[in-house]
Amino acid sequence: MALTQAGTTSGDGWSSRTAFILAAVGAAVGLGNIWRFPTLAGENGGGAFILVYIGFVILLGLPLVLSEILLGRAGGEDAIGSVRNVAAHSKRSEAWKGIGALQITAGFLILSFYSVVAGWVINYVFASGGDFLGALFSGEPFAGAFAGESQEEITGRMGELFANPALLIGLHAVFMAATVWIVASGVGDGIEKAAKWLMPAFFVLLVIVTLYGAIVTDEFGDAVAFMFTPDFSALNPTALNEALGQALFSLSLAAGGLLTYGAYVSRDVNLAPTATMIAFADTGVAMLAGLMIFPIVFSVGLDPAAGPALIFQSLPIAFNQMPAGSLIGFVFFTLIFFAALTSSISLLEGPTAWVIDRFRFRRPVAAILVGGVAFAIGVVCALGYNVLSEVRPLGFWDIFADSDILDTLDGFTGKIMLPLGAFLVAVFVGWFADRRLVQQQTGLSGGMFMLWRFLVAFVCPIAVGLVLLFGLFPGLITPAAAG
Ligand code: PFF
Repeated sequence: MALTQAGTTSGDGWSSRTAFILAAVGAAVGLGNIWRFPTLAGENGGGAFILVYIGFVILLGLPLVLSEILLGRAGGEDAIGSVRNVAAHSKRSEAWKGIGALQITAGFLILSFYSVVAGWVINYVFASGGDFLGALFSGEPFAGAFAGESQEEITGRMGELFANPALLIGLHAVFMAATVWIVASGVGDGIEKAAKWLMPAFFVLLVIVTLYGAIVTDEFGDAVAFMFTPDFSALNPTALNEALGQALFSLSLAAGGLLTYGAYVSRDVNLAPTATMIAFADTGVAMLAGLMIFPIVFSVGLDPAAGPALIFQSLPIAFNQMPAGSLIGFVFFTLIFFAALTSSISLLEGPTAWVIDRFRFRRPVAAILVGGVAFAIGVVCALGYNVLSEVRPLGFWDIFADSDILDTLDGFTGKIMLPLGAFLVAVFVGWFADRRLVQQQTGLSGGMFMLWRFLVAFVCPIAVGLVLLFGLFPGLITPAAAG
Protein backbone atom coordinates (compact mmCIF):
# COMPACT_ATOMS: atom_id res chain seq x y z
CA MET A 1 0.00 0.00 0.00
CA ALA A 2 1.43 3.32 -1.04
CA LEU A 3 -0.08 5.29 1.78
CA THR A 4 3.07 6.12 3.62
CA GLN A 5 5.37 6.97 0.78
CA ALA A 6 5.09 9.75 -1.76
CA GLY A 7 6.17 9.23 -5.33
CA THR A 8 4.65 6.95 -7.89
CA THR A 9 5.61 4.17 -10.16
CA SER A 10 5.01 6.43 -13.13
CA GLY A 11 7.77 8.92 -12.49
CA ASP A 12 9.90 11.02 -10.24
CA GLY A 13 8.48 13.75 -8.01
CA TRP A 14 8.64 17.54 -7.77
CA SER A 15 12.00 18.88 -6.64
CA SER A 16 10.42 21.38 -4.23
CA ARG A 17 7.18 22.90 -3.03
CA THR A 18 7.73 25.86 -5.33
CA ALA A 19 8.11 23.52 -8.26
CA PHE A 20 4.79 21.89 -7.44
CA ILE A 21 3.06 25.23 -7.07
CA LEU A 22 4.41 26.42 -10.41
CA ALA A 23 3.35 23.21 -12.13
CA ALA A 24 -0.10 23.25 -10.55
CA VAL A 25 -0.64 26.93 -11.29
CA GLY A 26 0.60 26.17 -14.79
CA ALA A 27 -2.03 23.44 -15.06
CA ALA A 28 -4.72 25.74 -13.76
CA VAL A 29 -3.87 28.85 -15.75
CA GLY A 30 -4.64 28.23 -19.38
CA LEU A 31 -7.07 28.78 -22.20
CA GLY A 32 -9.74 28.58 -19.51
CA ASN A 33 -8.53 31.82 -17.97
CA ILE A 34 -7.70 33.84 -21.05
CA TRP A 35 -10.15 32.52 -23.61
CA ARG A 36 -13.08 30.87 -21.86
CA PHE A 37 -13.44 33.04 -18.77
CA PRO A 38 -13.65 36.44 -20.52
CA THR A 39 -15.87 34.89 -23.18
CA LEU A 40 -18.34 33.53 -20.63
CA ALA A 41 -18.21 36.64 -18.47
CA GLY A 42 -18.89 38.75 -21.57
CA GLU A 43 -21.76 36.58 -22.72
CA ASN A 44 -23.36 36.50 -19.28
CA GLY A 45 -23.32 40.20 -18.62
CA GLY A 46 -20.13 40.54 -16.57
CA GLY A 47 -20.48 41.39 -12.87
CA ALA A 48 -23.09 38.95 -11.59
CA PHE A 49 -21.49 36.04 -13.41
CA ILE A 50 -18.08 36.95 -12.04
CA LEU A 51 -19.41 37.28 -8.51
CA VAL A 52 -21.02 33.85 -8.70
CA TYR A 53 -17.82 32.51 -10.20
CA ILE A 54 -15.72 33.84 -7.32
CA GLY A 55 -18.23 32.42 -4.84
CA PHE A 56 -17.95 29.01 -6.47
CA VAL A 57 -14.16 29.17 -6.38
CA ILE A 58 -14.06 29.96 -2.67
CA LEU A 59 -16.85 27.71 -1.41
CA LEU A 60 -16.46 24.78 -3.79
CA GLY A 61 -13.25 25.10 -5.79
CA LEU A 62 -10.81 25.70 -2.98
CA PRO A 63 -12.02 22.81 -0.78
CA LEU A 64 -12.04 20.54 -3.82
CA VAL A 65 -8.52 21.50 -4.91
CA LEU A 66 -7.30 20.50 -1.46
CA SER A 67 -9.37 17.28 -1.60
CA GLU A 68 -7.93 16.20 -4.94
CA ILE A 69 -4.31 17.00 -4.11
CA LEU A 70 -4.56 15.15 -0.81
CA LEU A 71 -6.17 12.13 -2.45
CA GLY A 72 -3.31 12.05 -4.93
CA ARG A 73 -0.64 12.39 -2.31
CA ALA A 74 -2.23 9.89 0.06
CA GLY A 75 -2.72 7.37 -2.73
CA GLY A 76 0.64 7.94 -4.34
CA GLU A 77 -0.15 6.52 -7.77
CA ASP A 78 -1.94 7.47 -10.96
CA ALA A 79 -5.46 8.92 -10.53
CA ILE A 80 -7.19 5.54 -10.52
CA GLY A 81 -4.62 3.80 -8.34
CA SER A 82 -4.56 6.63 -5.82
CA VAL A 83 -8.30 6.60 -5.22
CA ARG A 84 -8.22 2.80 -5.07
CA ASN A 85 -5.45 2.90 -2.44
CA VAL A 86 -7.23 5.44 -0.29
CA ALA A 87 -10.48 3.46 -0.57
CA ALA A 88 -8.68 0.27 0.45
CA HIS A 89 -7.00 1.99 3.37
CA SER A 90 -10.41 3.32 4.41
CA LYS A 91 -11.94 -0.19 4.04
CA ARG A 92 -14.28 0.98 1.32
CA SER A 93 -15.35 -0.57 -1.95
CA GLU A 94 -12.80 -0.71 -4.74
CA ALA A 95 -15.46 0.76 -7.01
CA TRP A 96 -14.50 4.25 -5.78
CA LYS A 97 -11.57 4.07 -8.15
CA GLY A 98 -14.18 4.85 -10.79
CA ILE A 99 -13.68 8.48 -9.73
CA GLY A 100 -10.18 8.24 -11.09
CA ALA A 101 -11.37 6.61 -14.29
CA LEU A 102 -14.03 9.26 -14.84
CA GLN A 103 -11.50 12.01 -14.23
CA ILE A 104 -8.85 10.58 -16.50
CA THR A 105 -11.41 10.16 -19.26
CA ALA A 106 -12.54 13.76 -18.83
CA GLY A 107 -8.96 15.01 -18.95
CA PHE A 108 -8.24 12.95 -22.03
CA LEU A 109 -11.30 14.30 -23.86
CA ILE A 110 -10.50 17.85 -22.83
CA LEU A 111 -6.95 17.41 -24.10
CA SER A 112 -8.22 16.40 -27.52
CA PHE A 113 -10.16 19.61 -28.16
CA TYR A 114 -7.90 21.83 -26.04
CA SER A 115 -5.07 21.11 -28.43
CA VAL A 116 -7.23 22.14 -31.40
CA VAL A 117 -7.98 25.51 -29.83
CA ALA A 118 -4.33 25.90 -28.86
CA GLY A 119 -3.63 25.33 -32.56
CA TRP A 120 -5.69 28.45 -33.35
CA VAL A 121 -3.53 30.30 -30.88
CA ILE A 122 -0.39 29.12 -32.67
CA ASN A 123 -1.88 30.36 -35.93
CA TYR A 124 -2.28 33.81 -34.41
CA VAL A 125 1.20 33.71 -32.85
CA PHE A 126 2.60 33.21 -36.34
CA ALA A 127 0.28 35.66 -38.04
CA SER A 128 0.88 38.42 -35.51
CA GLY A 129 4.59 37.58 -35.27
CA GLY A 130 4.94 37.88 -39.04
CA ASP A 131 2.93 41.06 -38.97
CA PHE A 132 5.17 42.53 -36.30
CA LEU A 133 8.33 41.59 -38.17
CA GLY A 134 6.90 43.20 -41.28
CA ALA A 135 6.16 46.37 -39.35
CA LEU A 136 9.64 46.32 -37.85
CA PHE A 137 11.39 45.97 -41.19
CA SER A 138 9.33 48.69 -42.79
CA GLY A 139 10.56 51.00 -40.05
CA GLU A 140 7.26 51.19 -38.17
CA PRO A 141 7.67 48.99 -35.11
CA PHE A 142 4.80 50.76 -33.36
CA ALA A 143 2.22 50.26 -36.08
CA GLY A 144 -1.20 48.80 -35.37
CA ALA A 145 -1.72 45.12 -36.00
CA PHE A 146 -2.47 44.00 -39.56
CA ALA A 147 -2.08 47.55 -40.85
CA GLY A 148 -3.87 48.16 -44.12
CA GLU A 149 -6.39 45.37 -43.58
CA SER A 150 -10.09 46.14 -43.27
CA GLN A 151 -12.12 44.88 -40.32
CA GLU A 152 -13.66 42.24 -42.56
CA GLU A 153 -10.24 41.06 -43.63
CA ILE A 154 -9.05 40.81 -40.04
CA THR A 155 -12.09 38.92 -38.76
CA GLY A 156 -12.06 36.89 -41.96
CA ARG A 157 -8.72 35.39 -40.92
CA MET A 158 -10.53 33.13 -38.52
CA GLY A 159 -13.00 31.96 -41.14
CA GLU A 160 -10.08 31.22 -43.47
CA LEU A 161 -8.40 29.18 -40.78
CA PHE A 162 -11.59 27.23 -40.06
CA ALA A 163 -12.13 26.53 -43.73
CA ASN A 164 -8.67 24.99 -43.99
CA PRO A 165 -8.71 21.51 -42.45
CA ALA A 166 -5.07 20.79 -43.29
CA LEU A 167 -3.89 23.91 -41.47
CA LEU A 168 -6.15 23.31 -38.47
CA ILE A 169 -4.94 19.75 -38.16
CA GLY A 170 -1.31 20.70 -38.75
CA LEU A 171 -1.36 23.29 -35.96
CA HIS A 172 -3.15 20.86 -33.67
CA ALA A 173 -0.42 18.32 -34.45
CA VAL A 174 2.33 20.80 -33.60
CA PHE A 175 0.76 21.62 -30.26
CA MET A 176 0.09 17.99 -29.37
CA ALA A 177 3.64 17.04 -30.33
CA ALA A 178 5.05 19.75 -28.04
CA THR A 179 2.84 18.49 -25.21
CA VAL A 180 3.86 14.87 -25.75
CA TRP A 181 7.52 15.81 -25.89
CA ILE A 182 7.41 17.58 -22.51
CA VAL A 183 5.45 14.81 -20.78
CA ALA A 184 7.70 12.15 -22.30
CA SER A 185 10.70 13.93 -20.79
CA GLY A 186 9.46 13.19 -17.28
CA VAL A 187 8.03 14.96 -14.26
CA GLY A 188 11.22 16.70 -13.15
CA ASP A 189 12.96 17.09 -16.50
CA GLY A 190 9.85 17.82 -18.54
CA ILE A 191 6.81 19.12 -16.71
CA GLU A 192 8.61 20.92 -13.92
CA LYS A 193 11.17 22.52 -16.22
CA ALA A 194 8.50 23.72 -18.63
CA ALA A 195 6.51 25.29 -15.79
CA LYS A 196 9.63 26.96 -14.37
CA TRP A 197 10.32 28.75 -17.63
CA LEU A 198 6.90 29.30 -19.09
CA MET A 199 4.94 30.47 -16.06
CA PRO A 200 7.19 33.39 -15.08
CA ALA A 201 7.34 34.43 -18.73
CA PHE A 202 3.57 34.22 -18.90
CA PHE A 203 3.11 36.45 -15.86
CA VAL A 204 5.48 39.11 -17.16
CA LEU A 205 3.67 39.23 -20.52
CA LEU A 206 0.27 39.30 -18.83
CA VAL A 207 1.25 42.29 -16.73
CA ILE A 208 2.70 44.06 -19.76
CA VAL A 209 -0.47 43.75 -21.84
CA THR A 210 -2.74 44.65 -18.90
CA LEU A 211 -0.71 47.77 -18.12
CA TYR A 212 -0.73 48.63 -21.79
CA GLY A 213 -4.54 48.46 -21.89
CA ALA A 214 -4.81 50.52 -18.71
CA ILE A 215 -2.49 53.21 -20.04
CA VAL A 216 -3.38 53.39 -23.72
CA THR A 217 -7.17 53.13 -23.48
CA ASP A 218 -9.58 55.32 -21.54
CA GLU A 219 -11.84 52.37 -20.85
CA PHE A 220 -10.12 50.68 -17.92
CA GLY A 221 -12.76 52.10 -15.57
CA ASP A 222 -15.55 50.84 -17.84
CA ALA A 223 -14.01 47.40 -17.78
CA VAL A 224 -13.82 47.42 -13.99
CA ALA A 225 -17.47 48.52 -13.83
CA PHE A 226 -18.52 45.85 -16.33
CA MET A 227 -16.70 43.13 -14.42
CA PHE A 228 -17.61 44.10 -10.91
CA THR A 229 -21.08 45.66 -11.04
CA PRO A 230 -23.49 42.77 -10.72
CA ASP A 231 -26.64 42.70 -12.82
CA PHE A 232 -28.44 39.71 -11.41
CA SER A 233 -31.08 39.71 -14.12
CA ALA A 234 -28.40 38.29 -16.41
CA LEU A 235 -28.22 35.12 -14.32
CA ASN A 236 -30.17 31.98 -15.17
CA PRO A 237 -29.67 28.26 -14.49
CA THR A 238 -27.54 27.91 -17.59
CA ALA A 239 -25.28 30.73 -16.44
CA LEU A 240 -24.92 29.12 -13.01
CA ASN A 241 -24.07 25.82 -14.60
CA GLU A 242 -21.56 27.53 -16.84
CA ALA A 243 -19.99 29.40 -13.92
CA LEU A 244 -19.53 26.16 -12.01
CA GLY A 245 -18.25 24.26 -15.04
CA GLN A 246 -15.83 27.10 -15.67
CA ALA A 247 -14.64 27.20 -12.04
CA LEU A 248 -13.94 23.46 -12.15
CA PHE A 249 -12.32 23.65 -15.58
CA SER A 250 -10.17 26.62 -14.66
CA LEU A 251 -8.94 25.09 -11.41
CA SER A 252 -8.14 21.86 -13.31
CA LEU A 253 -10.53 19.96 -11.07
CA ALA A 254 -12.12 16.62 -11.87
CA ALA A 255 -9.91 16.02 -14.89
CA GLY A 256 -7.21 13.90 -13.31
CA GLY A 257 -4.59 16.65 -13.37
CA LEU A 258 -4.52 17.53 -9.68
CA LEU A 259 -4.97 13.95 -8.51
CA THR A 260 -1.97 12.98 -10.60
CA TYR A 261 0.21 15.99 -9.72
CA GLY A 262 -0.69 15.48 -6.06
CA ALA A 263 0.97 12.07 -6.09
CA TYR A 264 4.31 13.71 -6.86
CA VAL A 265 4.20 16.01 -3.81
CA SER A 266 6.43 15.09 -0.91
CA ARG A 267 5.11 14.41 2.58
CA ASP A 268 6.52 17.54 4.17
CA VAL A 269 4.53 19.98 2.05
CA ASN A 270 1.65 21.57 3.94
CA LEU A 271 -1.23 21.12 1.54
CA ALA A 272 -3.86 23.57 2.76
CA PRO A 273 -1.88 26.79 2.15
CA THR A 274 -0.53 25.31 -1.07
CA ALA A 275 -4.00 24.58 -2.41
CA THR A 276 -5.11 28.07 -1.41
CA MET A 277 -2.26 29.64 -3.34
CA ILE A 278 -3.09 27.64 -6.43
CA ALA A 279 -6.77 28.60 -6.35
CA PHE A 280 -6.02 32.27 -5.71
CA ALA A 281 -3.38 32.47 -8.40
CA ASP A 282 -5.74 30.94 -10.94
CA THR A 283 -8.61 33.25 -10.06
CA GLY A 284 -6.31 36.25 -9.97
CA VAL A 285 -5.16 35.47 -13.49
CA ALA A 286 -8.75 35.14 -14.70
CA MET A 287 -9.57 38.58 -13.27
CA LEU A 288 -6.41 40.07 -14.75
CA ALA A 289 -7.30 38.52 -18.08
CA GLY A 290 -10.65 40.31 -17.94
CA LEU A 291 -8.92 43.56 -17.01
CA MET A 292 -6.52 42.99 -19.88
CA ILE A 293 -9.13 42.17 -22.51
CA PHE A 294 -12.23 44.26 -21.78
CA PRO A 295 -10.60 47.73 -21.85
CA ILE A 296 -9.18 46.89 -25.27
CA VAL A 297 -12.52 45.55 -26.50
CA PHE A 298 -14.42 48.58 -25.17
CA SER A 299 -11.91 51.10 -26.48
CA VAL A 300 -12.89 50.33 -30.05
CA GLY A 301 -16.58 49.94 -29.27
CA LEU A 302 -16.75 46.18 -29.69
CA ASP A 303 -19.23 43.86 -28.03
CA PRO A 304 -17.98 41.97 -24.94
CA ALA A 305 -20.55 39.25 -25.70
CA ALA A 306 -18.85 38.25 -28.94
CA GLY A 307 -18.53 34.64 -27.82
CA PRO A 308 -15.57 32.40 -28.60
CA ALA A 309 -14.44 34.82 -31.32
CA LEU A 310 -13.72 37.46 -28.67
CA ILE A 311 -9.97 36.99 -28.56
CA PHE A 312 -9.49 35.78 -32.11
CA GLN A 313 -11.57 38.38 -33.93
CA SER A 314 -12.47 41.26 -31.64
CA LEU A 315 -9.01 41.71 -30.16
CA PRO A 316 -7.12 41.70 -33.47
CA ILE A 317 -9.51 44.42 -34.68
CA ALA A 318 -8.72 46.38 -31.55
CA PHE A 319 -4.97 45.83 -31.93
CA ASN A 320 -5.31 47.12 -35.48
CA GLN A 321 -6.41 50.49 -34.18
CA MET A 322 -4.04 50.80 -31.27
CA PRO A 323 -0.51 52.13 -31.00
CA ALA A 324 2.07 49.34 -31.10
CA GLY A 325 -0.86 46.99 -31.64
CA SER A 326 1.26 44.82 -33.87
CA LEU A 327 3.79 44.14 -31.13
CA ILE A 328 1.15 43.81 -28.41
CA GLY A 329 -0.86 41.37 -30.52
CA PHE A 330 2.18 39.17 -30.86
CA VAL A 331 2.92 39.35 -27.14
CA PHE A 332 -0.72 38.60 -26.34
CA PHE A 333 -0.96 35.43 -28.40
CA THR A 334 2.44 34.24 -27.20
CA LEU A 335 1.34 34.49 -23.59
CA ILE A 336 -1.79 32.48 -24.31
CA PHE A 337 0.32 29.85 -25.99
CA PHE A 338 2.55 29.51 -22.90
CA ALA A 339 -0.50 29.21 -20.66
CA ALA A 340 -2.08 26.58 -22.89
CA LEU A 341 1.05 24.44 -23.01
CA THR A 342 1.52 24.19 -19.23
CA SER A 343 -2.14 23.15 -18.98
CA SER A 344 -2.14 20.60 -21.76
CA ILE A 345 0.82 18.80 -20.23
CA SER A 346 -1.19 18.27 -17.05
CA LEU A 347 -4.10 16.96 -19.14
CA LEU A 348 -1.80 14.47 -20.84
CA GLU A 349 0.03 13.50 -17.65
CA GLY A 350 -3.13 12.07 -16.03
CA PRO A 351 -3.88 9.35 -18.60
CA THR A 352 -0.16 8.83 -19.30
CA ALA A 353 0.61 8.09 -15.65
CA TRP A 354 -2.23 5.59 -15.67
CA VAL A 355 -0.93 3.83 -18.78
CA ILE A 356 2.54 3.66 -17.21
CA ASP A 357 1.24 2.26 -13.91
CA ARG A 358 -1.26 -0.11 -15.47
CA PHE A 359 0.62 -1.51 -18.45
CA ARG A 360 4.19 -0.84 -17.32
CA PHE A 361 4.92 1.04 -20.52
CA ARG A 362 7.91 3.32 -20.66
CA ARG A 363 6.96 6.96 -20.19
CA PRO A 364 7.70 8.14 -23.76
CA VAL A 365 5.74 5.25 -25.23
CA ALA A 366 2.78 5.93 -22.97
CA ALA A 367 2.83 9.66 -23.73
CA ILE A 368 2.98 9.09 -27.48
CA LEU A 369 0.18 6.55 -27.33
CA VAL A 370 -2.20 8.70 -25.30
CA GLY A 371 -1.28 11.87 -27.19
CA GLY A 372 -1.81 10.04 -30.48
CA VAL A 373 -5.33 8.93 -29.67
CA ALA A 374 -6.23 12.37 -28.29
CA PHE A 375 -4.82 13.84 -31.48
CA ALA A 376 -7.13 11.63 -33.56
CA ILE A 377 -10.19 12.79 -31.64
CA GLY A 378 -9.02 16.38 -32.03
CA VAL A 379 -8.83 15.85 -35.79
CA VAL A 380 -12.54 15.05 -35.80
CA CYS A 381 -13.18 18.25 -33.80
CA ALA A 382 -11.17 20.27 -36.31
CA LEU A 383 -13.13 18.77 -39.20
CA GLY A 384 -16.27 19.89 -37.41
CA TYR A 385 -15.52 23.42 -38.66
CA ASN A 386 -15.44 22.47 -42.32
CA VAL A 387 -15.97 19.00 -43.73
CA LEU A 388 -18.23 17.90 -40.88
CA SER A 389 -19.77 21.27 -40.09
CA GLU A 390 -23.30 19.91 -40.26
CA VAL A 391 -22.64 17.27 -37.62
CA ARG A 392 -24.28 17.75 -34.21
CA PRO A 393 -23.07 14.68 -32.27
CA LEU A 394 -25.63 15.03 -29.47
CA GLY A 395 -28.20 16.92 -31.52
CA PHE A 396 -31.06 14.86 -30.07
CA TRP A 397 -30.35 16.32 -26.62
CA ASP A 398 -31.78 19.80 -26.20
CA ILE A 399 -28.83 21.24 -24.30
CA PHE A 400 -26.45 20.18 -27.09
CA ALA A 401 -28.81 20.64 -30.03
CA ASP A 402 -26.81 23.47 -31.62
CA SER A 403 -23.34 22.29 -30.65
CA ASP A 404 -20.78 21.35 -33.28
CA ILE A 405 -18.30 18.57 -32.54
CA LEU A 406 -15.82 20.62 -30.50
CA ASP A 407 -18.54 22.47 -28.61
CA THR A 408 -20.22 19.17 -27.81
CA LEU A 409 -17.04 17.73 -26.30
CA ASP A 410 -16.41 20.97 -24.44
CA GLY A 411 -20.00 21.08 -23.16
CA PHE A 412 -20.21 17.42 -22.30
CA THR A 413 -17.00 17.46 -20.28
CA GLY A 414 -17.58 20.90 -18.73
CA LYS A 415 -21.25 20.61 -17.93
CA ILE A 416 -21.53 16.92 -17.08
CA MET A 417 -18.27 15.06 -16.50
CA LEU A 418 -16.52 17.72 -14.43
CA PRO A 419 -19.46 18.43 -12.09
CA LEU A 420 -20.04 14.69 -11.71
CA GLY A 421 -16.36 14.05 -10.99
CA ALA A 422 -16.25 16.88 -8.47
CA PHE A 423 -19.44 15.67 -6.80
CA LEU A 424 -17.98 12.18 -6.35
CA VAL A 425 -14.69 13.51 -4.96
CA ALA A 426 -16.60 15.57 -2.40
CA VAL A 427 -18.75 12.61 -1.36
CA PHE A 428 -15.79 10.28 -1.14
CA VAL A 429 -13.48 12.60 0.77
CA GLY A 430 -16.28 14.04 2.90
CA TRP A 431 -18.01 10.79 3.86
CA PHE A 432 -16.09 7.66 2.97
CA ALA A 433 -12.34 8.25 3.17
CA ASP A 434 -10.63 7.51 6.48
CA ARG A 435 -11.01 10.66 8.49
CA ARG A 436 -7.68 10.48 10.30
CA LEU A 437 -5.81 10.01 7.04
CA VAL A 438 -7.66 12.93 5.48
CA GLN A 439 -7.09 15.28 8.38
CA GLN A 440 -3.44 14.41 8.61
CA GLN A 441 -3.03 15.05 4.87
CA THR A 442 -4.70 18.46 4.97
CA GLY A 443 -2.49 19.68 7.78
CA LEU A 444 -5.56 21.49 9.13
CA SER A 445 -6.71 21.31 12.72
CA GLY A 446 -9.52 22.48 14.94
CA GLY A 447 -12.04 24.91 13.49
CA MET A 448 -10.33 25.17 10.12
CA PHE A 449 -10.56 21.44 9.59
CA MET A 450 -14.21 21.45 10.64
CA LEU A 451 -14.97 24.29 8.25
CA TRP A 452 -13.17 22.60 5.36
CA ARG A 453 -14.86 19.30 6.07
CA PHE A 454 -18.25 20.96 6.27
CA LEU A 455 -17.69 22.52 2.85
CA VAL A 456 -16.52 19.23 1.35
CA ALA A 457 -19.12 16.99 2.96
CA PHE A 458 -22.20 19.20 2.71
CA VAL A 459 -21.82 22.34 0.63
CA CYS A 460 -19.94 20.83 -2.32
CA PRO A 461 -22.16 17.79 -2.94
CA ILE A 462 -25.38 19.78 -2.58
CA ALA A 463 -24.32 22.79 -4.63
CA VAL A 464 -22.50 20.82 -7.32
CA GLY A 465 -25.32 18.28 -7.45
CA LEU A 466 -27.97 20.98 -7.86
CA VAL A 467 -26.08 22.87 -10.50
CA LEU A 468 -25.49 19.63 -12.40
CA LEU A 469 -29.18 18.77 -12.21
CA PHE A 470 -30.40 22.19 -13.31
CA GLY A 471 -27.80 22.31 -16.05
CA LEU A 472 -29.07 19.03 -17.44
CA PHE A 473 -32.72 19.97 -17.02
CA PRO A 474 -33.01 23.75 -17.32
CA GLY A 475 -36.80 23.32 -17.35
CA LEU A 476 -36.73 22.36 -13.67
CA ILE A 477 -36.46 25.99 -12.62
CA THR A 478 -37.70 28.05 -15.51
CA PRO A 479 -39.97 26.10 -17.82
CA ALA A 480 -39.44 28.75 -20.48
CA ALA A 481 -35.73 27.99 -20.65
CA ALA A 482 -36.35 24.37 -21.47
CA GLY A 483 -37.09 24.89 -25.13
N1 PFF B 1 -7.29 24.63 -16.15
C1 PFF B 1 -7.02 24.65 -17.56
C2 PFF B 1 -7.46 25.96 -18.14
O1 PFF B 1 -8.04 26.77 -17.43
O2 PFF B 1 -7.22 26.20 -19.31
C3 PFF B 1 -7.63 23.49 -18.29
C4 PFF B 1 -7.42 22.19 -17.60
C5 PFF B 1 -6.12 21.72 -17.39
C6 PFF B 1 -8.47 21.46 -17.11
C7 PFF B 1 -5.89 20.54 -16.70
C8 PFF B 1 -8.26 20.29 -16.44
C9 PFF B 1 -6.97 19.83 -16.23
F1 PFF B 1 -6.78 18.70 -15.59
